[in-house]
Amino acid sequence: MEKLVISGGTSLRGEVSIIGAKNSAIAILPATLLSNGIFTLHNVPNIIDVRLSCQILEAIGSKITWIDKNTLVIDNKDVHSTNVPLDLTSKFRASYYLIGSLLSKYGKIEVGLPGGCNLGVRPIDQHIKGFEALGAESNISQGKISLKAKKLIGTNIYMDIVSVGATINIMIASVLAKGTTTIENAAKEPHVVDIANFLNSMGADIRGAGTDIIKINGVENLKDSCSYSVVPDQIEAGTFMLAAVASKGNILIKNCIPEHLDSLISKISEVGGNVEVFGDSIKVSADKRPLGTSLKTLPYPGFPTDLQPQMGVVLSVANGTSIINESIWDSRFQYTAELNKMGANIAAHDRTAFFEGVSHLSGAPVYASDLRAGAALVIAGVIANGTTEIYNLRHIDRGYENIEEKFNKLGAKIKRIQE
Ligand code: EPU
Repeated sequence: MEKLVISGGTSLRGEVSIIGAKNSAIAILPATLLSNGIFTLHNVPNIIDVRLSCQILEAIGSKITWIDKNTLVIDNKDVHSTNVPLDLTSKFRASYYLIGSLLSKYGKIEVGLPGGCNLGVRPIDQHIKGFEALGAESNISQGKISLKAKKLIGTNIYMDIVSVGATINIMIASVLAKGTTTIENAAKEPHVVDIANFLNSMGADIRGAGTDIIKINGVENLKDSCSYSVVPDQIEAGTFMLAAVASKGNILIKNCIPEHLDSLISKISEVGGNVEVFGDSIKVSADKRPLGTSLKTLPYPGFPTDLQPQMGVVLSVANGTSIINESIWDSRFQYTAELNKMGANIAAHDRTAFFEGVSHLSGAPVYASDLRAGAALVIAGVIANGTTEIYNLRHIDRGYENIEEKFNKLGAKIKRIQE
């Protein structure tokens, strides 16, 4: 078993460069299956979820070559089957994007019900509603979902809730559908726009991504090749911004899109941090203990749920009381029990957590319950007095590339140890 051992008490200083967005890359990879072409993807995060996506694509005939650490060439010339390995698809959430692409291109698909972080109930009813509206028949049994359709037909789809995954999946499925599909009440996250941009560069005709209404005019054929660079990961950028505030440090975060982080920039200012924006970089610094605040997670452009645990670390050491209301996931406060082991004073009930700020955290053995909880514990370990040991690293490695290397370049003292 691997663990991270952190000698804490560090103020993080220096520069960090942000890599492509996990949640975009893991949709773009299956989306390439809409065509039997060759695609070059730049700025791809080299993380477990991307490598799992590659394994699934390879199992149905894609040839994938890593040109360098963050560049992939995907050759789909020999893809001819939709028999994806069910055990792999059950391992992570984004395998549901195989449904959108393979159903649309080949008319049938069966995948294991998607896994991923344990954040409470994670239904996919809105995805299925969309596929059925496009003319597919679906069947769920024995942990598997299968769908079939002769030809998907464009239609109007009103999403009952704002869902990032369902918006992207229906968008992917509609690219080759006959006629026009309109998605209303669509998610507006930067990676929804990024995937629409990728699909358009493959030859799709998608308009309105980034607004509530997306229109997809079905096309008959896609290009044989294209080259695309994945949008910078706003959650990785936000993680380092919050690490700067929590550690009373000074970090220049490079290769990010500051407009994607407006809700976080505003909260950081509220708690007394300093933010300066320069083109595609953000400098965040703090010289005193943060102030308390309250926030509610919301779909974009609201405060992202994927930065809630990292913000929770800042509030755990704030001067004052804070409240977080988590409106997206049922079980995203599991990290608060771990922070309490480190001396925090947080009471979490259902979807609300109350933070009574403490002057400092103390190192302890802690467990990452999910990906962002793991990132939060890394920040907590860096600012705590003494030594913190973090277990369950597979969660962190699913979504952060070389997390300890990036923190160590900023002055942290983190070692990965095999027990
Ligand atoms: N929901 C439904 N029915 C559906 C789909 C979603 O009720 O068919 C509900 C969910 O239960 C949740 C809400 O709608 O309460 C929003 O879910 P959404 O579909 O937007 O989430 P997702 O697509 O499953 C993605 C990211 C998550 C991120 C959320 C919200 C991926 C693979 N995952 O999940 O990322 O928290 O959007 O922004 O893209 C992470 O990166 O740590 C992570 C969990």
